Amino acid sequence: MKIAVLGTGAVGITIASKLIELGHQIMIGSRSKTNEKAIEFTNKFDQNASNGTFEEAAFFGEIIFNCIKGEFAIQALTSAEKGIRNKILIDVSIPVNTHNGAPLSLLPELCNTNSLGEEIQKNFPDTKVVKTLNTMWNTLMISPSMLKNGDHTNFICGNDDEAKAKVKSLLNEIGWKNETILDLGDIVGSRGTEATVLLWLRIWGATIGTFSLKVVN
Ligand SMILES: NC(=O)c1ccc[n+]([C@@H]2O[C@H](COP(=O)([O-])OP(=O)(O)OC[C@H]3O[C@@H](n4cnc5c(N)ncnc54)[C@H](OP(=O)(O)O)[C@@H]3O)[C@@H](O)[C@H]2O)c1
Repeated sequence: MKIAVLGTGAVGITIASKLIELGHQIMIGSRSKTNEKAIEFTNKFDQNASNGTFEEAAFFGEIIFNCIKGEFAIQALTSAEKGIRNKILIDVSIPVNTHNGAPLSLLPELCNTNSLGEEIQKNFPDTKVVKTLNTMWNTLMISPSMLKNGDHTNFICGNDDEAKAKVKSLLNEIGWKNETILDLGDIVGSRGTEATVLLWLRIWGATIGTFSLKVVN
């Protein structure tokens, strides 16, 4: 499948590399066509990897990953608006407030009674936004089995059930078993999953090494 990965940070490069390994064609998107990390990514693979602007990548992808820094996600997606129209957008971003310093907080307009997932869905009503993978460290996103044979929870939410089913099947390809993918309902579920970053950081400070969240009942 042709997949766009918007974002050249650790998340974008990690997800894009895994998808290439799985045989997909990837275009990684960035503000600039000459972004060094994007070019390095493209050059690492003999085939199936390319890079372009956010807009070019969005047009390329049948499915699009949003791995853009949270505070700039709406602005960057606006530059790719026509490319993401009527497509599934898998949103991994978190609206971290980078202006407040420690302890980390979320952008006030995008938490509690709102979220970045919801804001993206409101701004781009023809795009099917599915929020997932945003509650863990990026390497774990693409290798769930590195912890407890994959027995930990990945949340998913979004308004369109068909889109969520397609994303679940891509998650299965990546290595997530169906029983570990917990559907939280519509995109409002993003309020909870984005806010786990506040807990995540404290757990990270209190433990050693890779960890994940697991829902038991
Ligand atoms: N790191 C993790 O393990 C982790 C885990 C869960 C969720 N997340 C979330 O995943 C997303 C990606 O995280 P990351 O750590 O890989 O990278 P990041 O540094 O948060 O974001 C990198 C991307 O943001 C874009 N960006 C930065 N400033 C911009 C601006 N002014 N306008 C437009 N785009 C801009 C960059 O564009 P260029 O390509 O042009 O430089 C780059 O593609 C974030 O929302 C983060 O909160 C991260």
